[in-house]
Amino acid sequence: MPHAQLLQRSWKCAKLCCAMRKRVAVLTSGGDAPGMNAAVRAIVRAGVHHGFDMFGVQRGYEGLIAGAIIPLTVRDVGGIIQSGGTFLGSARSAEFMTEAGRRRALQHLEQRGVEGVIVIGGNGSQSGADALAREGLPVIGVASTIDNDLPGSDITIGVDTALNIALEAIDRLKVTASSHHRGLLVEVMGRKCGYLALMAGLAGGAEAIVIPEREIAPETIAEIMRAAYDRGKKHALIVVSEGAANNAERLARYFVHHKALGFELRATILGHVQRGGTPTVFDRLLATRLGVGAIQALVRGEHGVLVGWVDSRVQTTPLRDVVGRTKLLDLSLLDMGEMLSA
Ligand code: F6P
Repeated sequence: MPHAQLLQRSWKCAKLCCAMRKRVAVLTSGGDAPGMNAAVRAIVRAGVHHGFDMFGVQRGYEGLIAGAIIPLTVRDVGGIIQSGGTFLGSARSAEFMTEAGRRRALQHLEQRGVEGVIVIGGNGSQSGADALAREGLPVIGVASTIDNDLPGSDITIGVDTALNIALEAIDRLKVTASSHHRGLLVEVMGRKCGYLALMAGLAGGAEAIVIPEREIAPETIAEIMRAAYDRGKKHALIVVSEGAANNAERLARYFVHHKALGFELRATILGHVQRGGTPTVFDRLLATRLGVGAIQALVRGEHGVLVGWVDSRVQTTPLRDVVGRTKLLDLSLLDMGEMLSA
């Protein structure tokens, strides 16, 4: 049966008719996020439950272009709910952004008889999913990125774990900073979105939080640190988002000869350590719900949508309303943090 005709068959009859079992592939793309494995497990098992034959694509869109598509049984996804990273592998694919790259990917899917694709990932990955959906293929996105910058999901898979890792590091850094009467700059990830810095700064009791959405001049940070010193604080914590114009490296360079801070200064860039953790209970449950939600969306015949967590339940949003947009932060939390850093 030609691919176009295959795609038109109802998703609901998959379980009734063994000869017509639909094939669904899942891939993880972009920066890995703790909970991706739990999402793959949920997708594969819910897919099999609904009568689909399930496949995994290795190394995200790069693997799709190379035809690295493997069958996945319910046993293949056993023992992974608690593992960080993604056992399928992930990649950022420049080639998939090209027409030729997408053609090759579609050819591989057609050859393998795959009629539906589920993409677990963040902003860039969902742009790829949208591009695939526009080719007529049933595609469902699952919201997963530690950055939490994806519209269509109040919180994304991996955020909770990344925040907990950042918090654990911040708590430890505060201990040693207090012993030495030091100021500390801690840089967290988040690309152009300050969510991780804002939440880690608030939960870590920061004196100042530096995010791209509301930049602070280095002179103001110096004043905040000096004021904390003069109030008799043992340390001053500044949490900086990697996407801020003045990231930790630039601030550290600026402050190198700045004697008026009171505190001696140390800078720590947490980097990828935030991505490699064991998924928290929250992330495992979120990934499980969104994974099952993705299969249910396919069964309902929804295509070209992102499955996310909105108002405490699983909801779908058209991918075209998600891609290229950024979620807004509640900046009143910055003022709250400032008030509490007395
Ligand atoms: O999007 C997730 C993220 O961890 C960002 O916070 C960060 O800027 C980026 O990925 C790092 O990308 P890479 O793993 O390719 O270095």
